[in-house]
Amino acid sequence: MESEPFSAVKPSIVPLTKRYDVISFTSTNAELNDFLINDALDDQDEMICRTYLCCLGKSITGFFTIVADTIEVQAINENDSIDGYPYRKYPSIKIARLAVEETCERKGFGRFLVLAAIGLALSVSEIIGCRYLTVDSKPESMSFYERLGFRVVG
Ligand SMILES: CC(C)(COP(=O)(O)OP(=O)(O)OC[C@H]1O[C@@H](n2cnc3c(N)ncnc32)[C@H](O)[C@@H]1OP(=O)(O)O)[C@@H](O)C(=O)NCCC(=O)NCCS
Repeated sequence: MESEPFSAVKPSIVPLTKRYDVISFTSTNAELNDFLINDALDDQDEMICRTYLCCLGKSITGFFTIVADTIEVQAINENDSIDGYPYRKYPSIKIARLAVEETCERKGFGRFLVLAAIGLALSVSEIIGCRYLTVDSKPESMSFYERLGFRVVG
């Protein structure tokens, strides 16, 4: 059996704190870069969301931000109910933002971030009711999420 090389560095997921220098984070989406650099910590302090970084050695290879949310069940006629959905609203967790450093794309970091978010959602669902994990996807990234098992809701 082969052992891993001594120098192998594994990616890890860590909560965002002031000690991480995110100023040079660059994904292909300027709005997401701006959020991480300028707003993520403040929003976290205001308890609006929580951001987690993917670190590889000293590099930040990506991040995701999650928030508590609800999904509303909508029948075509307002007073109708839908089989299997006795409640109007269902608790969920939303991946509000997610991005991978431009130079690290297509190396599995995006998948790693989504799997970490799923793990967090499962942990939360053991202590607080939470049935779904949702994402507000950019149109160009929808097939990325579909590959990972997400389904489009009309
Ligand atoms: C979308 C994004 C997160 C993908 O990250 P990544 O690290 O390149 O993705 P991975 O390498 O983990 O790819 C996982 C799978 O998705 C596929 N994939 C990656 N980007 C894709 C895209 N834009 N469209 C369709 N499929 C994509 C990969 O080919 C891979 O497929 P496989 O399982 O068949 O091998 C990254 O390109 C990014 O940060 N984009 C800018 C910000 C953004 O759009 N964020 C998402 C919206 S909130």
